[in-house]
Amino acid sequence: MPSYPYVLLSAAVSLDGYLDDTTPERLLLSGPADFDRVDEVRASADAILVGAGTIRADNPRLLVNSAERRAARVASGRPAYPLKVTVSASGELDPAAGFWHTGGEKIVYTTDEGARRLRRTPVAADVVALGPELDWRALLAHLARVRGVGRLMVEGGGTVHTQLLRQGLADEIQLVLAPLFVGDPTAPRLFGPGGYQDGRLRLVETRRIEDVVLMRYEPTAPGTGPLPAAADRHWLALACELAERCPPSGTAFSVGAVVVAADGTELARGHSREGGDPVVHAEEAALAKIAPGDPRLAAATVYSSLEPCTRRASRPAPCARLILDAGVRRVVTAWREPDTFVTGADGSGVLAREGVEVLVLPEYEDRAKAPNAHLLP
Ligand SMILES: NC(=O)c1ccc[n+]([C@@H]2O[C@H](COP(=O)([O-])OP(=O)(O)OC[C@H]3O[C@@H](n4cnc5c(N)ncnc54)[C@H](OP(=O)(O)O)[C@@H]3O)[C@@H](O)[C@H]2O)c1
Repeated sequence: MPSYPYVLLSAAVSLDGYLDDTTPERLLLSGPADFDRVDEVRASADAILVGAGTIRADNPRLLVNSAERRAARVASGRPAYPLKVTVSASGELDPAAGFWHTGGEKIVYTTDEGARRLRRTPVAADVVALGPELDWRALLAHLARVRGVGRLMVEGGGTVHTQLLRQGLADEIQLVLAPLFVGDPTAPRLFGPGGYQDGRLRLVETRRIEDVVLMRYEPTAPGTGPLPAAADRHWLALACELAERCPPSGTAFSVGAVVVAADGTELARGHSREGGDPVVHAEEAALAKIAPGDPRLAAATVYSSLEPCTRRASRPAPCARLILDAGVRRVVTAWREPDTFVTGADGSGVLAREGVEVLVLPEYEDRAKAPNAHLLP
């Protein structure tokens, strides 16, 4: 399972939801204090990505402007400027654009066709062709694996933001609302038409910055099928956090679990030994809080810091059976059960053989293990 960078979408919009107007000059939606905040976010990123449309429309340089922030990056062993990344299917990029001639390293992700064009009209950047079409997961996996990018800031435009959000690849949206109107229906919008997650995103912060407001949101809807969505990682992180809350035990694991509906609504959460029950398991505790036959269970995802158990002495039904009986078809976990108490437990295998989609996200394994360190060799 490839791991991806943390993907942060950053944009400013007018009160009527536009990213820009249709004049040749870039519309300034924020003021100095917000531009300084953006500079700070850039300084926190390993890479900054914009679409080729934004390079053509705005000719941005995408620098960390503060000398102190650049010095702090260097002091912490990072390059002064984040890697600059763009995407282009056509490969039609102006070699004279400021993007190529300022800051640190640059990379263009493109198609085979775009790469051919870029061989004829090169730009000062590494060119990576991802096949006949550009696949965002392949791009993110390449950035993580080959360029070591852990945190990616995406600064637009709307075409890029729309795809990353709709494909469940955005971890966070940082949206600034500016008190002005564009009023031109042909101007670019932040998010285009199409299918987004059902239900509501999670509002994690609001901040007044001069006359604009920053809103930070996280998507909530679990992925569908075998590929992880950004929200899957958020929910699994919560399950690992719940595992930390378990009353300590020398004879059982500490595990956290969350059950989430397809629209991102949390149905229930639980953790081992909660509510004074010395033997209750996390998934069991969570499922017990949902009415049997709740129609949302069929499309729900169970997140569990440790894979559901298959054998237990304390109760008649192991958690894998409880999940199957509840009708849940998707389970995301961080850690396969070790042989500490049961040999060859294989909860993931049991569930998969019954048709449940099981995802193991090993990047959370250490967090899932942390409250159980005393039980491990
Ligand atoms: N207010 C803000 O915060 C903000 C921020 C950024 C941009 N903007 C505004 O947004 C507008 C530009 O937005 P936009 O939507 O037109 O452009 P964009 O999202 O910056 O770039 C779109 C281009 O990126 C490439 N691309 C996108 N998805 C791709 C994929 N899956 N595979 C291959 N290539 C892909 C294509 O390039 P090719 O055409 O080369 O194939 C596509 O035309 C400008 O008006 C700009 O001022 C505003």
